[in-house]
Amino acid sequence: MSKNFDVVVIGGGPGGYVAAIRAAQLGFSVACIDEWKDGKGGPALGGTCTNIGCIPSKALLQSSEHYEHAGHTFAEHGIDVKGLSLNLDQMQKRKANIVKQNNDGVLYLFKKNKVSFFHGRGSFAAADANGYQIKVTGAAEDTIGAKHVIVATGSNARPLPGADFDEKLILSNDGALAVGAVPKKLGVIGAGVIGLEMGSVWRRLGADVIVLEALPVFLGAVDQQIAKEAHKLFTKQGLAISLGVKINAVTAGKKDVTVEYTDDKGTAQTAVFDKLIVSIGRVPNTIGLSGEAVGLKLDERGFVAVDADCKTNLPNVWAIGDVVRGPMLAHKAEEEGVAVAERIAGQHGHVNFNTIPWVIYTSPEISWVGQTEQQLKEQGVAYKVGTFPFMANGRARALGDTSGMVKFLADANSDEILGVHIVGPMASELIAEAVVAMEFRASSEDIARICHAHPSLSEATKEAALAVDKRSLNF
Ligand code: FAD
Ligand code: NAI
Repeated sequence: MSKNFDVVVIGGGPGGYVAAIRAAQLGFSVACIDEWKDGKGGPALGGTCTNIGCIPSKALLQSSEHYEHAGHTFAEHGIDVKGLSLNLDQMQKRKANIVKQNNDGVLYLFKKNKVSFFHGRGSFAAADANGYQIKVTGAAEDTIGAKHVIVATGSNARPLPGADFDEKLILSNDGALAVGAVPKKLGVIGAGVIGLEMGSVWRRLGADVIVLEALPVFLGAVDQQIAKEAHKLFTKQGLAISLGVKINAVTAGKKDVTVEYTDDKGTAQTAVFDKLIVSIGRVPNTIGLSGEAVGLKLDERGFVAVDADCKTNLPNVWAIGDVVRGPMLAHKAEEEGVAVAERIAGQHGHVNFNTIPWVIYTSPEISWVGQTEQQLKEQGVAYKVGTFPFMANGRARALGDTSGMVKFLADANSDEILGVHIVGPMASELIAEAVVAMEFRASSEDIARICHAHPSLSEATKEAALAVDKRSLNF
């Protein structure tokens, strides 16, 4: 064994790399093992999020939104664009550069915080009186000792049975972000977060996009008033979303993919696409971890089984992020990483699952925190509702984006904010105020009495809070 560490983190995604940095800040000797390779076989730290998730998808969403504005909304501003054309190569290059900056940024942070990085696959080799031996295979070959192990091995795209990803015609998020030419006809199976974000990118760039969703309701986990508004707006943009479908067969040909499905009326349909994105959820990744070598317990769905503190069944082995229960979000993984490092240090790290924000980066964006109206109804909680449309917000008019609304749900008796839901411009940024308010257990009256800058989109938040007591001023 060449080296012993207080903490060894397996996986360098947002959960793992943040856990490693926090543990190093707390004075531990720390190693992080990550196997992701860039195009040249070198390390590419940052996990799914940096390489084929959050970061590249937001880069393409931004570029495609600029393209759409240049083609459709600039004229209204008095800006005439002639000879507009798409340079997809350059768009993809820009995306790749942003990913690389993030990869390098994590490596830099490891150096700064004295985290030892091992490029390769980490697997449990043995447990002994001192802790665990972790074998590293790949670019780095080593066996390292660990008093504490944090498993942060993330997740992989779930394939549709009988239709494996080939990343040429049948695409996971990986292939969906790397398409080299705009497909004429793009099929998307699953109208979830990835389906809507990636469907939006390729529609804006010119593809004819059809989204096939199994559930009869659109975005069932989202507050249904917000989801209905979003459905209306996406349909108007040209994203064709079919709900309540049953996929019967997916057959990849030489140049296209045929999808046979039954629609919500029970009619058999056949559609042929140039490319098909399958975005029907993700599965925890424990491939190659050799948890069985030390008796690491998985739950019935393949997640590493953990308690509320991210402790596994093994002493001093922790697991965080997508590989454990809870929402598959980068910021949830990061919060768990920090909390676990602090628990190892004997502190009281804490993650409040009730205040984890969700954002869907479509246009308009959708964001929320806390309970939906349908959840409050199911739980029999007495609540008040306040909504405010961006149509009545001066900044939204100046931006030229007046779609959507802010919605507050507050306890009918205490006025405590129970949930905030937004569909509209910059919803991803606006939700932060609601997260802070809910973390401090604020009431809607608190937000209603706080001065918000004019003209700003955040005034819609204040007005929705005022609307809880039916006293909004501008609507
Ligand atoms: P991961 O990021 O998956 O990282 C795990 C790392 O561990 C990987 O680098 C992997 O190579 C490595 N690894 C696995 N096994 C081993 C092993 N045995 N040895 C060594 N290394 C190993 N979330 C958001 O919050 N916001 C977004 O906007 C967002 N957009 C997304 C867009 C897409 C297209 C996708 C697919 C996901 C998106 N997500 C987003 C979700 C987000 O990417 C994940 O929640 C997040 O990456 C989970 O972090 P993690 O650290 O748990 O795992
Ligand atoms: P998802 O869970 O968001 O959506 C999957 C959708 O596919 C659901 O609506 C489901 O009903 C549908 N579906 C499942 N099986 C189906 C079938 N056989 N036929 C048709 N429809 C079917 O999963 P998605 O979009 O794959 O994303 C995975 C996760 O990645 C998200 O849940 C989220 O945690 C994370 N993510 C987060 C983003 C963000 O924060 N902005 C962006 C992208 C992904």
